Amino acid sequence: MEYQDLVSKAIDARKNSYSPYSKFKVGAAVLTYDGKIYSGCNIENASYGATNCAERTAIYKAVSEGYTTIKAIAIVGVENDYTYPCGICRQVIAEFASVDTKIILGKGETEYLVKTLDEILPGAFTKKDLGK
Ligand code: THU
Repeated sequence: MEYQDLVSKAIDARKNSYSPYSKFKVGAAVLTYDGKIYSGCNIENASYGATNCAERTAIYKAVSEGYTTIKAIAIVGVENDYTYPCGICRQVIAEFASVDTKIILGKGETEYLVKTLDEILPGAFTKKDLGK
């Protein structure tokens, strides 16, 4: 699976964004080490704190189906710029990522940045800190 395909899946998922409050649409697509793909969008709520980001929707879909290892995750937000994952989503990515997990920030179908978790969340607190 090319990164570009994963970005396309994130763009597709963004169409389902439920964001009547912020109007900020986000889509994400997770590729697991088993080769499965799960996509998701942000889902807002009238009680704002109940909002779920696109990255977490996609990751939780994968985990709830039994796939807990993320090889890559593509994220697309605002048109024509890069949208980085929020702090909570970086922490959730860290839970299921490995050193070579790629975080792909899509600007459009063909323009994207490829990052590692260490680049976007250096010194992450993870299961290793708990001896796991
Ligand atoms: N959002 C995401 O879906 N992912 C992020 O990493 C950043 C923020 C969503 C949450 C909310 O629906 C909207 O963007 C504005 O914060």
